[in-house]
Amino acid sequence: MTTLSQTALLLELEPVVERNLDRHLAIAKEWFPHEYVPWSEGRTFDGPLGGEAWSEGDSTIPDVARTALIVNLLTEDNLPSYHHEIATLFGRDGAWGTWVHRWTAEEGRHGTAIRDYLTVTRAVDPVALERARMVHMSAGYANVHDDEVLHSLAYVSFQELATRISHRNTGRVTGDPACEALLARVAADENLHMVFYRNLLAAAFELAPSQAMRAVADVVADFQMPGNGIDGFARKSVAIALAGIYDLRLHRDEVVAPVLRQWDVFNVTGLDADGEAAREAIAAHLDELERAASRFEEKRDARAARLASR
Ligand SMILES: [Fe+2]
Ligand SMILES: [Fe+2]
Repeated sequence: MTTLSQTALLLELEPVVERNLDRHLAIAKEWFPHEYVPWSEGRTFDGPLGGEAWSEGDSTIPDVARTALIVNLLTEDNLPSYHHEIATLFGRDGAWGTWVHRWTAEEGRHGTAIRDYLTVTRAVDPVALERARMVHMSAGYANVHDDEVLHSLAYVSFQELATRISHRNTGRVTGDPACEALLARVAADENLHMVFYRNLLAAAFELAPSQAMRAVADVVADFQMPGNGIDGFARKSVAIALAGIYDLRLHRDEVVAPVLRQWDVFNVTGLDADGEAAREAIAAHLDELERAASRFEEKRDARAARLASR
């Protein structure tokens, strides 16, 4: 079996990009971030305009919802880095380039909308948020598979779905219907992004099954959320997991497993020895994720029982 070069993969997949771009443009619904922000709740802040400084009591949304909103927003904020990575790898010409720019424009709406909401509702400390944005964007984001088309497609297939679930569940825990509606709208975009990338990798499975299988195996083995460089990410993601916004169970059952099922990885034919080894590694990783998710759930339940008995 011949191994396709990165350039050959890009060329072979271009017609698939074109078809899926048309499909995306036909079903993506136009929406306006300003319609999701309760502007009349806003008040001028301190500083040049002499309003009131933010204080802890300005908002009643739960702490963990604030944490998740900050992580989600900082993740969206790093868009220039993501654009750089995909524009460099996929190129800016033809259907690939049209997708790169369209995707960037859609993602740009997410950060705008969430920041406007947080500022107007005084849900989080705007000074701390701005400082965190500076730190996070100054570090940038680097794709760990920056010269591998199929690895990158596999990564974004999982990552867009993970982001969708994280936004949706964050909306739920805010207890604010306006925020929930906004994040549901953002989550719907992330879902379409996932479908686009997942369809591309499905085509790659037909084109170069062993290379696609290897890419998926490598990506599921070391998957990290794009926001993992955020200051205090480990502590924040524990809080997010304890609240059931994004945890190992969701990662396994609602992100990794459904995408693997769509690619039908366990029934793919025509694999070479490395392709078969990659598929075995995926199966072993799913089992490991199952054990880790169960362990986490047991610990979370025990912790909840402990807190309840106090
Ligand atoms: Fe987004
Ligand atoms: Fe997205």
